[in-house]
Amino acid sequence: MTNKDHLRILFQRSGLRLTREQTQLFWRFHSLLREKSRESDLTRIYNFENMVIKHYVDCAIVPSLVELPSELLDLGTGAGFPGIPIKIMMPQIRLTLVETRQERVEFLEEVLEELELKDVTLIKKKLSGPIGKRFEGVITRALEDITSTLRRVLEVLEPNGKVIFMKGPNCDEEIEEAKENMGAFYALYKDIHYTIPETTYRRRLLVYRKNDVPFRDLKEITSSDNKTYKLFKSLLTSKGIEKSSLFLMWGSKVVKETIQDHITHIEGVILRQGGPFPESILIDSPYFRLSKELFDQLDPFGTSYPILLLKKPKIRPFGDMPRKGPILAIPFQDPSNVGAVIRTSLAMGVRNLLLTESCASPFHPKAVRASGPCILSVELFGRPKLEELRALRLPIVGLATPPKGVDLLRFGFPEDFILLPGLEGPGLPLEMADQLISIPMEDGVESLNVGVATAIALFWWRARRDLRGPLSIPLKVGEGA
Ligand SMILES: C[S@@+](CC[C@H](N)C(=O)[O-])C[C@H]1O[C@@H](n2cnc3c(N)ncnc32)[C@H](O)[C@@H]1O
Repeated sequence: MTNKDHLRILFQRSGLRLTREQTQLFWRFHSLLREKSRESDLTRIYNFENMVIKHYVDCAIVPSLVELPSELLDLGTGAGFPGIPIKIMMPQIRLTLVETRQERVEFLEEVLEELELKDVTLIKKKLSGPIGKRFEGVITRALEDITSTLRRVLEVLEPNGKVIFMKGPNCDEEIEEAKENMGAFYALYKDIHYTIPETTYRRRLLVYRKNDVPFRDLKEITSSDNKTYKLFKSLLTSKGIEKSSLFLMWGSKVVKETIQDHITHIEGVILRQGGPFPESILIDSPYFRLSKELFDQLDPFGTSYPILLLKKPKIRPFGDMPRKGPILAIPFQDPSNVGAVIRTSLAMGVRNLLLTESCASPFHPKAVRASGPCILSVELFGRPKLEELRALRLPIVGLATPPKGVDLLRFGFPEDFILLPGLEGPGLPLEMADQLISIPMEDGVESLNVGVATAIALFWWRARRDLRGPLSIPLKVGEGA
């Protein structure tokens, strides 16, 4: 028996009947691969039967298991797998082979010429983004993890386009990871486990379908001279934020929460080239994709996660302030302190916040980093001079450093009042308060950080309001938390 017949029989054993012409094409392909493998590194498999089963049959069987879209892009095709065997099995399919390595591309050029394959385009490229054309489907074998490929081909695919992965049986972790990272953009809709007939080789075909909604509006930004980019950069300063009434928000958890709870504030999503996408799709928001260098300049905290562009909520006039319950006045000049007390206030149920004239912007990156989405859930009023606080006609409880002020633990908070902490450094102008309180401390500590002191005062106010009667939860030991 000739090797050519042997090839045909091996196919037949796997359930694939080749025509004479197909047998001839596989034979020519095989001969070329054998010949060229000696010069360049095209395959690691040299045994004849293994080459037939693990390369040709492995790929040629795919069209019998799933419907393949045309036009199909084979990404990272190497020596032509699975593209060439698929083309031989489905002569009508329009195929594009993408491969980055020169010697492999040269080999493929020869294959296409020798086998006289029609409707096959060869692209020498390391695919990483749009290529000026969209495809109905992408197929890959032995390329990289699922998430990376789904991300890489997002803009190469038509809406509802398919990505077909030829995998081994153990790819559950990759599937989970892809769900987490790319679940907003794709759905896994076929997961086929099979064994190549008459062998022990287990395989798995995964078919992902791209959702048809994301990226109605995607702008690529690659130059620091771009006007929009300059606007983004200006949002790293309070002045820029004030001018445009926009601000930025960073961090995966914070971004996810903001998308979930404050969608109406979102004006856009800033992506890093090759970086992750947020999990939820924002249909009406524009996406801006920045080159890595440009993105990193907008990412002072090094999150690498998409940055949200948000509409700054209005700071209402001081005169509109409701005169009920506790009001926190914030005079801090350090934006991190401002952000931290905004978060604490909300946690303690104090929503009405009065930003005094000296207060740093609560939308400054450092403030937003500390407050997270809480900045979008509080009511902000501003910005009076300290002397003007009296106009609210509410008692002003000033937070001072001991020995000034009465002991917080002995102070009975009134129903409605303004809590006024001191400024970092100089503290509180004492004449501003009707009553000074302070947090008792051990000797040797001069003062607390103002943000921390404010948090303690707010917590104590709430504890005094809510705690009635003796403590009722006994300590249980040895049962675990
Ligand atoms: C391990 S080989 C697998 C080749 C073939 N798919 C197979 O199953 O035999 C991966 C191939 O993908 C190519 N490759 C990797 N990343 C690529 C990219 N981003 N764009 C194009 N080709 C890529 C490599 O040069 C290599 O030839």
